[in-house]
Amino acid sequence: MLTKAPRGTKDITPKDSYKWTYLENKFREICDLFGYEEMRTPIFEHTELFKRSVGDTTDIVQKEMYSFQDKGERDITLKPEGTAGAVRAFIENKLYADAQPTKLFYITPCFRYERPQAGRQRQFHQFGIEAIGSDNPSIDAEVIALAVQFFTELGLKDLAVSINSVGCPVCRETYNKKLREYLDQKSSVLCDTCNERKEKNPMRVIDCKNPTCQTNLQDVPFMIDHICDDCKTHFAKLKEYLVEMDINFVVDKTIVRGLDYYKKTAFEIISNDIGAQSTVCGGGRYDGLIEQIGGPKGTSGIGFALGVERLLLTLENNDIQIENPHSTDIFIVTIGDAAKTKSFKLLKELRGNHISADNDHLDRSVKAQFKYSDKINAKFTIVIGDDELENDSATLKNMKTSEQKVVKLSELVKELKNVL
Ligand code: HAM
Repeated sequence: MLTKAPRGTKDITPKDSYKWTYLENKFREICDLFGYEEMRTPIFEHTELFKRSVGDTTDIVQKEMYSFQDKGERDITLKPEGTAGAVRAFIENKLYADAQPTKLFYITPCFRYERPQAGRQRQFHQFGIEAIGSDNPSIDAEVIALAVQFFTELGLKDLAVSINSVGCPVCRETYNKKLREYLDQKSSVLCDTCNERKEKNPMRVIDCKNPTCQTNLQDVPFMIDHICDDCKTHFAKLKEYLVEMDINFVVDKTIVRGLDYYKKTAFEIISNDIGAQSTVCGGGRYDGLIEQIGGPKGTSGIGFALGVERLLLTLENNDIQIENPHSTDIFIVTIGDAAKTKSFKLLKELRGNHISADNDHLDRSVKAQFKYSDKINAKFTIVIGDDELENDSATLKNMKTSEQKVVKLSELVKELKNVL
């Protein structure tokens, strides 16, 4: 128990952490190209924030949140997603007073009490963006384009971008009525969850994974076939902009998303090679959310989040390797105490000049030090004993070519700068 991480969590050891650093740097780089700046929000928020934004009837709020009372008896929840916190921070810090839209990105751990499997964890990580303050479909296109450029630059070329419109409060109400009527007729063949959802949030029924429900819902009416003119124009413009950017997409009527705040555009980017958990990236527009949690009236927003664990699985399944950038430029083999002490001066000088350098910390024999130097892939090795110290010179060995050269210790930095 003491040496086992909690179920659904994973350590990211140095064998993998360089991949995370690479992905984070790449995401930052792409966000910068599109003018998105970083927002960092707390790991926990008031539980009420998620209930109000993600939605009371969602699986996340009903079953999956890590909620607790702190010692001051406040109801607290570890964030199950990044949007609610970002939007809360946008309001609290009055970012709406700056030039709009506000374009934010975040990199954050998230927590959902789900049944762990490949690509599904209880602590997972999201890269996300939120563009707040524009209801124009051009920003929808920009948000999707950012995700696509990120995936493309990682080498993932065949991901499917699926888009849908989940309507607005005007057309949703009429649609919900129609959908409820349809579902009422099917009530006896639908699961309990669907029958419950039918009353509170009928569109979520479309997302049911129960095979019996799926069979019985084959002629279910879809939102996109009942959207109002405003939603239609919005969706048409979005498609026009995507075509202009040569972004391949399909319209998938079944996308309803598992969070309640979506209006108009909803989209997902799917990778078909990681089994059931194939949605790597999901997002959409959430007009109305900001007002709903106390922000300025009429403030629109759109964004997405992608799961880093699922992204890594997708890269692996597509044979896309990320190189480990770590390297040791030089390993200093020391013979005896005096040489070891002296090696510190040399190490300080080398590292001070941004040449990565290492020495032995386990009192190894010379042979074992060479072996270790091989293991850590040091590019060069130098042996220092009493003689070398006395003569201020030593043999520098290129570990790849086995070439050797006598160099003055006082000129080691200069010599290495020439060859590295
Ligand atoms: P979401 O679809 O719930 O959307 O999550 C986004 C992504 O997070 C998923 O596509 C998936 O890759 C990853 N993810 C979700 N749950 C897990 C899990 N248990 N284990 C591993 N990965 C997971 C949102 O969270 C919205 N806040 C996205 C958004 C931003 N919409 C607008 N702005």
